[in-house]
Amino acid sequence: MLSFLYTYLTNLPRWHLVAIVLVGYLVYYLMEVVKRPILAVSDGPFKKYLRKHIPTLEHKFWPTFWCVESRAQTVFASILRSNIMPAIEYRRQVLTLKDGGQVALDWLETGCDPESPIIIILPGLTGESQAEYIKCLVTAANRAGIRTVVFTNRGLGGVALKTPRLYCASNCEDLSEVVRHVRQAHPHVRMGVTGISMGGLILGNYLARKSDEAKSILTAATIISVPWDVHKGCASIEQPILNNLLGRHLASSLCRTVSKYDILRGEEFEWDMNQVLQSKTIKQFDSAFTSKHFGYKDVESYYSDATLHNKLHQIKVPLLCLSAADDPFQPLDAIPVKAAAKSSHVAILITARGGHIGFLEGWWPANKDQYMGRLFSQYFAATLFDPDNEFYRTMQLMMEHNLTASTSVPGSPKVQTPPPPPSPPVAAASAIRKKSIPF
Ligand SMILES: *[C@@H]1O[C@H](CO)[C@@H](O)[C@H](O)[C@H]1NC(C)=O
Repeated sequence: MLSFLYTYLTNLPRWHLVAIVLVGYLVYYLMEVVKRPILAVSDGPFKKYLRKHIPTLEHKFWPTFWCVESRAQTVFASILRSNIMPAIEYRRQVLTLKDGGQVALDWLETGCDPESPIIIILPGLTGESQAEYIKCLVTAANRAGIRTVVFTNRGLGGVALKTPRLYCASNCEDLSEVVRHVRQAHPHVRMGVTGISMGGLILGNYLARKSDEAKSILTAATIISVPWDVHKGCASIEQPILNNLLGRHLASSLCRTVSKYDILRGEEFEWDMNQVLQSKTIKQFDSAFTSKHFGYKDVESYYSDATLHNKLHQIKVPLLCLSAADDPFQPLDAIPVKAAAKSSHVAILITARGGHIGFLEGWWPANKDQYMGRLFSQYFAATLFDPDNEFYRTMQLMMEHNLTASTSVPGSPKVQTPPPPPSPPVAAASAIRKKSIPF
């Protein structure tokens, strides 16, 4: 039987073989790759609003046919977008913070109404306003008539490092100053905010820790490809071989950034710059530098403080997150699907594919219309322009929904929430994954 099959296959004309492989791949692509994304958020006003106003949520995600694998999406998205997105001319405003440090605010206002809404954008680990994924978002917002301002961190994108202090994932003081500054300069417009990857951690920590300040200033927020659980994210990016290569690439760009600044060298500091520059992984870098820089006992306590998956309930600004189930920086079992499913204010959209800040779709990714940019601009156009004040009313309903959800017996004094259960063992976690995420 087998030998018959072998003779049959070896005697087939070559184009038959090619056709069989192609059809096989097509079937695989249609059955296993193209999926409708999952929206994790509690059944309530936020979910209803999103389903009604964000058409992208209802559509299947069609990853680029020849580029579906997670690392391929991650790397090709970066290379392709770098080539197809033209450079953007921003108006740079240098903002001096209260400790004397400087950050840059890169504004894109061309063609927007002077009273149009504003979105503040936080790039990833070493990103700045000309990073390809930032240009993708900024372009999408501009097409919707929304002004954007990219918050470029201390020491990045040509910003001088005035004091021996950089930034980290758990520290949101700089972001708080920036948000308040933009609000003061534009008191009467609606404002949104977006964080990508590490920028998403800073933003998430801000929304959770300064929840009342954030709520009083911001109307809506999004977070893209964030490493929800920093411990797990870091472990995942150190997996051999491809993930590890990506991680090393980022570690070396971190080393390049800090090596430029003599102000960070000296006997008085707790870190040894020569040792820092030998870091081969992000964790080694954070252990030798970032955790010491921000006064943590060790890198584990820094990561525990920065992590976001356990802070959803503190967030009071309506937040839409986009995560890919195959993100090499973010294993699927670390996405807080259950917490989001109970949350009145946080929704997580999970696509089966997309990698880390990838989300390439179609035959050839175009510069104007990309999945990430489309979702982003639909969400902000709906919530920030809000023509009939429907989102404003939805926000009030969301507060009520949260109250009814958190007090189970009406009229009774506030129910004590039971202590959180111990984290599930691995087997249970994979059961959750199979049940709640049918990819
Ligand atoms: C939801 O209710 C809980 C408990 O009453 C409260 O701690 C939390 O801040 C509320 N969340 C929002 C978004 O208002």
